[in-house]
Amino acid sequence: MPSLKLSNKVSSTVLRETWSTKRIFILAAVGSAVGLGNLWKFPYITGENGGGAFVLVYLGCVLLLGLPILMSEITLGRAGQGNPVHTMQVLAKRQGASRLWSLLGVNGLLAGALILSFYTVIAGWGVAYFFDSAQGVFQTMSAQQASEHLTVLLANPLQLLWWHTVVTVLTVWIVARGVRKGLEVALNFMMPALLLILLVLLGYAMTTTGFEQSVQFMFAADFSKLSWQAVLVAMGHAFFTLSIGLGTMMVYGSYFERQHSIASASLWVAVVDTLVALLAGVVIFSIVFANGLATGSGPGLLFSTLPIAFGQMSGGWFFGTLFFALVVFAALTSAISLLEPSVSWLNQRFGIGRIKAACGLGFATWLLGVGTVLSFNMWQNVHFMGTRTLFESLDFMTTNIMLPLGGMFMAVFVAWVFKDQDRAQEMALPKRFSAVFLLNLKWFVPVAILWIFASNLVTGQAVWWVMIGALALYGLYVKSVLQTTRPG
Ligand code: TRP
Repeated sequence: MPSLKLSNKVSSTVLRETWSTKRIFILAAVGSAVGLGNLWKFPYITGENGGGAFVLVYLGCVLLLGLPILMSEITLGRAGQGNPVHTMQVLAKRQGASRLWSLLGVNGLLAGALILSFYTVIAGWGVAYFFDSAQGVFQTMSAQQASEHLTVLLANPLQLLWWHTVVTVLTVWIVARGVRKGLEVALNFMMPALLLILLVLLGYAMTTTGFEQSVQFMFAADFSKLSWQAVLVAMGHAFFTLSIGLGTMMVYGSYFERQHSIASASLWVAVVDTLVALLAGVVIFSIVFANGLATGSGPGLLFSTLPIAFGQMSGGWFFGTLFFALVVFAALTSAISLLEPSVSWLNQRFGIGRIKAACGLGFATWLLGVGTVLSFNMWQNVHFMGTRTLFESLDFMTTNIMLPLGGMFMAVFVAWVFKDQDRAQEMALPKRFSAVFLLNLKWFVPVAILWIFASNLVTGQAVWWVMIGALALYGLYVKSVLQTTRPG
């Protein structure tokens, strides 16, 4: 993404005073992190997993696993300066470790493509709702009409396919052009706008009869409702929502200048990202409880609740249309960050031009996305990996397995393979914080992730992945130790 650098310069000449590189980095990273994960996914998986206790585990995962891994991933990117595969190759070589570390990058590229394939489908629902809202469809909509509206959309594969295509083309177009000039300026306005409109919605939510129950549902933890499967979902989501474990933050981190603090930038990203998710959750569950809807209604939750609010509140047409425009915008700034690592890999590794690479990959993910489109209608009863639809399988495999595994290996690399002075120089953490950080990264992060994987063995679903992951971890660790201690 050499263009990001270019656009930094362009922007900073325009707004030299306030537009520092650190600010742009944070904006781009927040743009990647804040997306459908916060607005669409977090509320519905919270609903499916019983609320409070799930939210608490998710917050714990963001703080104890997500934040340190985010810092590690940015560190790797800044030290390695390239696409994820290249970065891991370069760093492994420099630290005298196994070449196999580049598999970490491959895992990321694959996960990025798989996630993008369903991400554009869901973002497509947002585009459909944007046009619906603009045409006033949501005015005076009852709860029942809202849920029927979504059912009708989901039952129509051609319409879903059309919106999926529109989002894919937009994503490919932005990535192919490479230049982020307009995008970063836009982010500058859109992120505050998104926060603002969520506050407006919060104001509305407070006037409904469901507000108190919503807060109760989200923040009163009842651990008897929590299963190990739910813990895995909460952990996976911490990775998904922060855009970590894949290589996105590696690529973005490679453009983050040395004099800026990785720790404070990461903290910003995590705080804004969490805030957006919690706001969305409180708003949506207020609507759920005020209208007697089900908390665990699944992936349609956002789309079957908010139209009710926009139908009832004053200025609903305006806020509704703006809201769905912002949903689509937030999704696009995340979608490009899913495609970017693969494009930069094809570019660096095979010399394939950005346009060709983006179009080729876009076509592949579009094709796979057809499976997700059909998961909501014609293939509703076609199951993989137990009782999951194709969409659910893709989501489970990437979010709950590939991202945590990727993130864990990043942590292991930074904690165990990096020479102490290299890590210290790259991260420049305050001394006292640095010891705690390293202890957490060395022990808590890998043990907790493997522990959560292992606890899901009972359900039998993650068994093979855990075995492979544990074996690979052990193998890489032994090999890298052998190599780093070899004399000469
Ligand atoms: N974080 C985004 C969201 O919450 C999705 C996303 C973008 C992502 N880039 C990523 C997830 C990289 C994992 C890895 O919607």
